[in-house]
Amino acid sequence: MTDDRPYSPGLEGVVAAETGLGYVDGEQGRLLYRGYRIGDLVEHGTYPAVANLLWTGDWDAGHRMATGELPEGVLKTLRALPATAKPMDALRTAVSAWGATQELAWPPTAEQARALTAFSPSALAAFARIRAGQEPIAPDPSLNLVEGFLYQLKGTRPDAGTARALDAYFVVGAEHGLNASTFTARVITSTRSDLASAVAGAIGALKGPLHGGAPSEVVEQIHQVGSVERAEQWVNETLDKGERLMGFGHRVYRAYDPRAAALRKVAESMEHPPEWLALATAVEDVALKVLAERHPERALKTNVEFYAAPVLMGVGLTPDLFPATFALARHAGWTAHVIEQAADNRLIRPDARYIGPAERDLPS
Ligand code: ACO
Repeated sequence: MTDDRPYSPGLEGVVAAETGLGYVDGEQGRLLYRGYRIGDLVEHGTYPAVANLLWTGDWDAGHRMATGELPEGVLKTLRALPATAKPMDALRTAVSAWGATQELAWPPTAEQARALTAFSPSALAAFARIRAGQEPIAPDPSLNLVEGFLYQLKGTRPDAGTARALDAYFVVGAEHGLNASTFTARVITSTRSDLASAVAGAIGALKGPLHGGAPSEVVEQIHQVGSVERAEQWVNETLDKGERLMGFGHRVYRAYDPRAAALRKVAESMEHPPEWLALATAVEDVALKVLAERHPERALKTNVEFYAAPVLMGVGLTPDLFPATFALARHAGWTAHVIEQAADNRLIRPDARYIGPAERDLPS
């Protein structure tokens, strides 16, 4: 039973797919979507244009996409959930219920991807309102997707700066290579299952705090720090307790996360940033200094979640909606990977090294 084949815990360093979608350069701190730099896409694009680029390969900066209608069965399902349900659970359930109302033929298409990506913001907004005892708001087809999401959530049209800031967050969250949730979506697709099943599974993977859960904890930690003067002491005490600093470190990036750089610019140019933004940037400087002093070999740098926190707070989202909002943004990447996987499909079926007991007889 000896098995000498290489085993990589967490599949670290294992190449498990080829993709033309996202290039994550951890050493240089670069992120490209179909070759285009993330900073340029944030500056010159919108989420619908970026989603369309990922699905079709075509760049059309003016591409528009409104949020989608909710089928009656989905609304009923959302109303049946307890108000205490986590928004990620509600979104995963809504995607699953939506899939049950569709005829999602194989292979998955850009039209299917578009329909699901348009549907999910309406579903999350509806759940947020239902749990607060309010009625869901129908989509306004004249609004672009992110603006429409905020309108359906709040009941009023956001100002241009607010919509632009959240749109930038959606752009940086759209795609990120073969992360855990995207891999999940590709595994499900490789069995020739449908697009809604792949995205429901991906949402389940993203729900874990190591993947999509950090920005609300960033807010909590910044509040714990309280003042610039206390920052160094707080960082040291937190690390001494063996705890992690939220918004720092990444499996792939050894350099500053380019998404954090793009969102920092967005946060600093917001009309109504949270009042603790200046404290956050001061805490970041201290944290980077202390992390480098303690472990110069580790290269722990700021990740996207650190600056996602002020942007999401600044546009008026409550922290418990952060992970599900990240999931909405990642719909573009997940569904693009689903289409790519299906176009050149091979069932994903790795092996496990057996380390259990040797062959033996049942006890008599
Ligand atoms: N603060 C303090 N120490 C850290 C941090 C951190 N944020 N991140 C990693 N380390 C330490 C680990 O404790 C570990 O030390 P050890 O070997 O003494 O245990 C060492 O650095 C290496 O860390 P790994 O766990 O191997 O790093 P991994 O690649 O598995 O983890 C992860 C990456 C999960 C993002 C990690 O850095 C972390 O937990 N960060 C905080 C949470 C966070 O910000 N998550 C959002 C990530 S971005 C995203 O998913 C969109």
